[in-house]
Amino acid sequence: MSLTQDQLKQAVAVAAVEHVRPFFDQHAIIGVGTGSTADLFIDALVAHKERFAGAVASSERSAVRLRGHGIRVVDLNEVSSLPVYVDGADEVTPQLAMLKGGGGALTREKIVAAVAQRFVCIADGSKLVEQLGRFPLPIEVIPMARAQVARHLTALGGEARLRGVVDGKPFITDNGNVILDVHGLRISDPVAFETLLDGIVGIVASGLFARRGADVLLLGTADGVSTLLPD
Ligand code: 5RP
Repeated sequence: MSLTQDQLKQAVAVAAVEHVRPFFDQHAIIGVGTGSTADLFIDALVAHKERFAGAVASSERSAVRLRGHGIRVVDLNEVSSLPVYVDGADEVTPQLAMLKGGGGALTREKIVAAVAQRFVCIADGSKLVEQLGRFPLPIEVIPMARAQVARHLTALGGEARLRGVVDGKPFITDNGNVILDVHGLRISDPVAFETLLDGIVGIVASGLFARRGADVLLLGTADGVSTLLPD
């Protein structure tokens, strides 16, 4: 019997807890991402919550879930480094470049990832792709720059659509900005494209995580959870 996507996410979440256990000690603060796979990771962490000091969350959503489980949430400004950051992805290549931000938390995810010594990507097998871009690329934008950034993205061959109503409300990020989801891109050089996007005034961050990709991918497949290192 084949496993559902949710069962594969559950399997990688449990594997991720095993993967981060060596980093636990009474002072350890771990980085925690955002999304349905990250939610399952948070749930699986609970059994170990006495073995580490707390977590930095990449979104208000994850912070609420962590606190709800009695896990201390620490401001990133209070830590100088994190031994490990665990987060999902919308797409990931064999080189472990990622397209992220389906949940709209990409900027904080990028910041927390930048502070972490090790990025552990957790994903079900459907997320592994040879080329990024089939999933619309989320870009966080300062609201007054929305139209000018969209024009740039059109010139780059994409179709930028404002993320509209989500759960009955216009989508606004935790940072008070909007998201443009860019359709129709086929990203052959993720590092170069991330750098190009970072140079467009008004973009806060893109959902391309290529310059700082993952260090390891835990991939849930019908045959179990595989551990992949960058090609
Ligand atoms: C949120 C993200 C998520 O990691 C990404 O969207 C994957 O989500 P899920 O685990 O629900 O498939 O980048 O901003």
